[in-house]
Amino acid sequence: MKGGQAKTTLAINFASRIAKARREVLLIDSDIQANITTTFQRDHFCNLANIILGKVSNFEFMQLAERLSFLPSGGQAMVEASSYLSHTQFKDDLLKNLLSTINHNIVIIDTAPSWNEISRNILMYVDFVIVPVVTDYLGYSGCDQIMSYIEDFKESKLGECKAEVLGIAVTRSQPRTRLARTITTGLKERWPDLIFKSMIEESVSIQEAPAFQKNIFDYKNGCTRGAGMYDQLCREIMRRIVKQRKSE
Ligand SMILES: Nc1ncnc2c1ncn2[C@@H]1O[C@H](COP(=O)(O)OP(=O)(O)OP(=O)(O)O)[C@@H](O)[C@H]1O
Ligand SMILES: [Mg+2]
Repeated sequence: MKGGQAKTTLAINFASRIAKARREVLLIDSDIQANITTTFQRDHFCNLANIILGKVSNFEFMQLAERLSFLPSGGQAMVEASSYLSHTQFKDDLLKNLLSTINHNIVIIDTAPSWNEISRNILMYVDFVIVPVVTDYLGYSGCDQIMSYIEDFKESKLGECKAEVLGIAVTRSQPRTRLARTITTGLKERWPDLIFKSMIEESVSIQEAPAFQKNIFDYKNGCTRGAGMYDQLCREIMRRIVKQRKSE
């Protein structure tokens, strides 16, 4: 919901890390801003907007890297797609039905900083939500807001929405500042079981990588502090998914 929390950065790097762990993964851009599409300078007729609008019959995904497929959002066409969703009788379930034929076991969706028909459709489709947060005051309140929106939505769907918040990831922090330390303590106290222990600090390499159309693991051959921090976080996320799956 909140802008600039490193949703896109986390989505790109997590998807890339999974592909490097030799698992097939599909990355979907659902944001009208189309930041992943812009980063990798790839667009395609088979995009999310055209799928929602019923214009695509065969899914043909682009390959961003080995084992990493990509479905762009369609940019501006997402406005039409969103409006279509709000008028269709399927409302919150359309995307889930449309994407049901996808073969990929792992699908990662980058979301827009908004709460709308698209977000609700995505919540009906996914198993897990990861909430990224920047350690400033508005980041904390944005985290609080999205957690209660998800809870309210799930309650309104009377058990039909199976999405669980997998965890809260600190994606940009300056741990030397008092504000960052206070916010981090606040997050740990409020959501002790959800906050990931591996935290991403402010890093120039993380900011630079997209400018070179690279994920953090390929940028400078992965020999950066940013790559090390993202590797730790991605591993922790993957371990938590495996643990959750085992307990189901
Ligand atoms: N740890 C970090 N250190 C430095 N810069 C970062 C870090 N993480 C993300 N950034 C930068 O912060 C900016 C916002 O990140 P990003 O686009 O991933 O956020 P977002 O939540 O997807 O934004 P939006 O809400 O607009 O979609 C980008 O310029 C990104 O490169
Ligand atoms: Mg984004």
